[in-house]
Amino acid sequence: MKAYIITLIAGLAVASVAQAASNKTIDNLNAALRGESNASHKYGLFAKKAKEEGATQAAKLFEAASKAEAIHRDSHKAAITKMGGKPDTIKLDEVKIGSTKENLAAALKGETYERDIMYPDFIKQATADSAKAALRTMKFALAAETEHVKLYQDAIDNLGKNKEVSYFVCPDCGFTAEKRPNRSCPVCGEKAANFIAFK
Ligand SMILES: [Fe+2]
Ligand SMILES: [Fe+2]
Repeated sequence: MKAYIITLIAGLAVASVAQAASNKTIDNLNAALRGESNASHKYGLFAKKAKEEGATQAAKLFEAASKAEAIHRDSHKAAITKMGGKPDTIKLDEVKIGSTKENLAAALKGETYERDIMYPDFIKQATADSAKAALRTMKFALAAETEHVKLYQDAIDNLGKNKEVSYFVCPDCGFTAEKRPNRSCPVCGEKAANFIAFK
C-alpha cells in the first residue's frame, strides 16, 4: 500500500512538471500569436503606404509578408487549441506608420528578432516539452521569417528602383519566395501550384 502511494505521488509530480512545461510552450505560442497578428496588420498598413509612395516592389513584399504572418497567426492558434490551451484574444497595437524606407527598416528589425531570438528560444522550450504541434508551427514560422529577413534587406537595397519582382506565399506554412517553387514547398511539401502569387 505504502509503495503504491509513493508511486502515485511520484507519478502526479511528473505529470505536473510536464503540465507546467507545456504551459510554458502554450504561453510562448500565445506570444507568437500576438506577434504574428500585429505583424500581419502592420504590414498591411505599410503596403498601403508604399503604394501611395509608388514603391511597388515594397508594396508587394508587404502584402505577401502580411499574408504569410496571417498564416502563422492561424496556425499558432490551431496549435494552442490542439495542445489543450486557450488562444488569447489579441487586441492589435497601434501602428506607427513612417516613410516606406522607415517601414522597411522596422520590418527588417522585427523579422531579425523573430529569426535570431524569439523562435529559436521558443523552439528550444517546445523541444524540451516534446510539444509536437508547437514545434511544427514554430519551425514553419522560423523558416518563413528567415526568408523575410533576406527579402526585406533586398527591398531596402532596391528601394526607388522598382525592380520587377513577384512574391509567392505557401498557403500552408507561409514560406515566401521570389519564385514559385518547381514542384513543392521546400519547407512543408505543399504543392507549388497552390502558392499564392503577389504579382
Ligand atoms: Fe515575417
Ligand atoms: Fe509550405
